[in-house]
Amino acid sequence: PREFRIVVLPGDGIGPEVVGEAVKVLQAVSDASTEFKLNLETHDFGGCAIVKHGEPLIPTTFQACKEADAIILGAIGGPQWGVDAKVRPEPGFLKLRKALGLYANIRPANLASDALLEYTPLKPDRARGVNMIVIRELIGGAYFGPRKEQNVEPEPDSAWDTMVYSVSEVERITRVAAQIALAANPPLEIHSIDKANVLASSRLWRKVVTETLTKEYPQIKFDHHLVDAAAMFIVSQPKKLNGVILTENLFGDILSDQSSVIPGSLGLLPSASLPAPPSLPGPNFKPTPGLYEPIHGSAPDIAGQGIANPIGTILSAAMLLRYSLGLEKPAKAIEEAVRKVLDTTESGGHGLRTKDLGGSVTTKELGDKIVEVVKSLL
Ligand code: NAD
Ligand code: IPM
Ligand code: MN
Repeated sequence: PREFRIVVLPGDGIGPEVVGEAVKVLQAVSDASTEFKLNLETHDFGGCAIVKHGEPLIPTTFQACKEADAIILGAIGGPQWGVDAKVRPEPGFLKLRKALGLYANIRPANLASDALLEYTPLKPDRARGVNMIVIRELIGGAYFGPRKEQNVEPEPDSAWDTMVYSVSEVERITRVAAQIALAANPPLEIHSIDKANVLASSRLWRKVVTETLTKEYPQIKFDHHLVDAAAMFIVSQPKKLNGVILTENLFGDILSDQSSVIPGSLGLLPSASLPAPPSLPGPNFKPTPGLYEPIHGSAPDIAGQGIANPIGTILSAAMLLRYSLGLEKPAKAIEEAVRKVLDTTESGGHGLRTKDLGGSVTTKELGDKIVEVVKSLL
């Protein structure tokens, strides 16, 4: 069988709890196949690595990530390493993203199942049929521009961050959005989000997005929205933004958490971070390494209770199989299993919910059920 090296980074807080369930799903997929084998290896990363080794991204973890076919991550961070701590996990994460060139962050936000309509805080008619894919630029903008902390000479009473974008950085993320839009039939519309009425980097963004799409992808419909109004539309008329939402790093961070309100929980949404436009499974598939994680954080408020929703991480495992390994069949099986396990409307639906969705099943019970259904679908 073909062998794949998968690096598992459980991280902190609920990270190990949700990753544990995704690992069970991946292991079941591997065990059921004679054609491929997933070799899963776990490494310290984040706050737990600070505790054990004094730094968030230690050399062995870094090396394993560079060599892996794909990485699955839970979440990092927590109150032990708050904003005033001397050593914090988040910079290690930014270093990893940058070093691996993971500029394309894909965050789909849709209802895994219409059964979730009872949990959306929106009016069900507004949430039904929402299908947004946030494409967030991940290694530029204010996260990576020159930065100065307070209490550093010669201006000890000021601190600053700089939002910087180059033409080529905007071109390449626009091409990712375009290829995702074209993978759907009919092609999705692209909604580019910026703050071009104020920011110079946004004026460059808007110009480059327009030029790239017009020249290279004339068949794709696109428009531009200012980020403040877009934030309002996401929760008032989300279908107005159906399609691909293309935006820069910081806006994408905020808007993707906000989009999780539509299906009803932050715990549901997966993501892929890639160093190239995704190649889709099929005869022309080109393997691309990538990092896969739920969009949520370490949820210190519920960590250790065994009640976190593992679905965002399990759906991230499905994205891993599809985008990094080209294994569409098990990816689909996982997505189908998640739908069946949540569903109450179809026959054979199980209607299981963790607490964030008003239910009382544990992380592990939900994971076990998903594994069972995945096995039956493979
Ligand atoms: P968070 O995403 O951890 O939690 C926000 C809220 O959503 C909390 O009430 C939490 O209980 C809930 N929630 C999140 N995931 C859930 C799940 N799977 N099931 C049920 N409920 C869930 O955001 P925060 O509290 O602002 O941040 C906590 C820490 O996580 C910070 O240190 C932050 O830097 C870090 N963080 C890490 C990542 C990552 O590793 N990719 C992402 C976001 C935040
Ligand atoms: C995310 C997180 C990270 C980000 C933090 C932990 C650095 O919020 O992946 O969405 O802001 O990118
Ligand atoms: Mn975030």
